[in-house]
Amino acid sequence: MANLFCTKCNTEYSINEPIWKCRCGGLLNIAYTPVIDLDNIENKTPGMWRYRDSIPISKNKNIVSFSEGFTPLLEVETGVGSILVKQDHLFSTGSYKDRGASVLISKVKELGIKKVVEDSSGNAGAAIAAYCAKAGIECEIYVPESTSKGKLAQIELYGAKLHKIPGSRENTAAAVMEAADKNYYASHSWNPWFFQGTKTFAYEVCEQLEWNAPDVVILPAGNGTLFLGAYIGFKELNNAGIIENMPKMTAIQTVNCSPLHESYKNNLKEPSKIESLETIAEGIAIAEPIRGHEILEAVGVTEGEIITVTEEEIEVSLRNMMSSGYYIEPTSAAVMAGVIKYQNRNQNRSKGERIVSVFTGHGLKSTDKLLKLLKSEK
Ligand SMILES: Cc1ncc(COP(=O)(O)O)c(C=O)c1O
Ligand SMILES: [Zn+2]
Repeated sequence: MANLFCTKCNTEYSINEPIWKCRCGGLLNIAYTPVIDLDNIENKTPGMWRYRDSIPISKNKNIVSFSEGFTPLLEVETGVGSILVKQDHLFSTGSYKDRGASVLISKVKELGIKKVVEDSSGNAGAAIAAYCAKAGIECEIYVPESTSKGKLAQIELYGAKLHKIPGSRENTAAAVMEAADKNYYASHSWNPWFFQGTKTFAYEVCEQLEWNAPDVVILPAGNGTLFLGAYIGFKELNNAGIIENMPKMTAIQTVNCSPLHESYKNNLKEPSKIESLETIAEGIAIAEPIRGHEILEAVGVTEGEIITVTEEEIEVSLRNMMSSGYYIEPTSAAVMAGVIKYQNRNQNRSKGERIVSVFTGHGLKSTDKLLKLLKSEK
């Protein structure tokens, strides 16, 4: 059985309670130990719901799905060496957020909730809006005014009410809070159900490696929703004895917004207070990651690291990836710039390592920003 528990005061709640944070204000997590039967998985449709038995949604009729997941794990040459990259930009809404949205909105349906609110740099908002559209649930999405136009169009066309908030991503997070007092907050960072979806990243990677873990997993960390979900997934597989080792969980941030790297460098357990600057990697422009403590812990426990990349490195990486045929958004190019840095710094070691990373978002979402980049070249 699964239950919700508070990471601050340890209070436990039933998973049938329509709450997204503890009464004390603390973050909730889900205590759950799935029973994993590999024979049972193999016969199922290739999608993330093939791990249905590890996802604590009670009734199949509540599952909201576009048959998403089981994205290709493709060998990609970075120029330093080849690594394996999950093609999570190929989801229905064009980003990996569909993993989390599918499970979270299934839970919303199971709870009988009719309306949700969410804030996002754009992709999570688009994913929540799409799954709400499918489930017939009303939704309002808050995003920074500067969000890529492709994402704004998606959110509105899926039928959500869109609120464009001036200023930083933190201003947007503050703006949604009033609405979250009165409505169910389908937040990809606060709501623990989102992570029950992103954990399928780890299940898919391990199954694609014939139930082996990679040595190193390199993922973006803004709020860390993929990073922490993947960590949960690898831990579940490791605890079940299906994989023998935990991969080194390595996170990528930008130099312009690196509250986690600052703490990693100084051996601190909580994210640091920073002055953030604008970055083309809008998906990881998170100055105050609410689950920062959990991300730093996962990095520490698995002996991973946190790497930062400059705006220039992101741009070079974006051009290289695109001219190799991978049409990804700038945030995903930031991750690949980080991968290259990892490879360069660990030349000897990284050759023998199995490194897995991800393309998190599709380039078509960021056409406006990519065109600006092209113009600045001339
Ligand atoms: C394309 C893309 N990559 C990576 C991220 C980072 O995700 P997270 O903030 O959960 O770490 C986001 C978040 O919006 C994103 O849109
Ligand atoms: Zn509490």
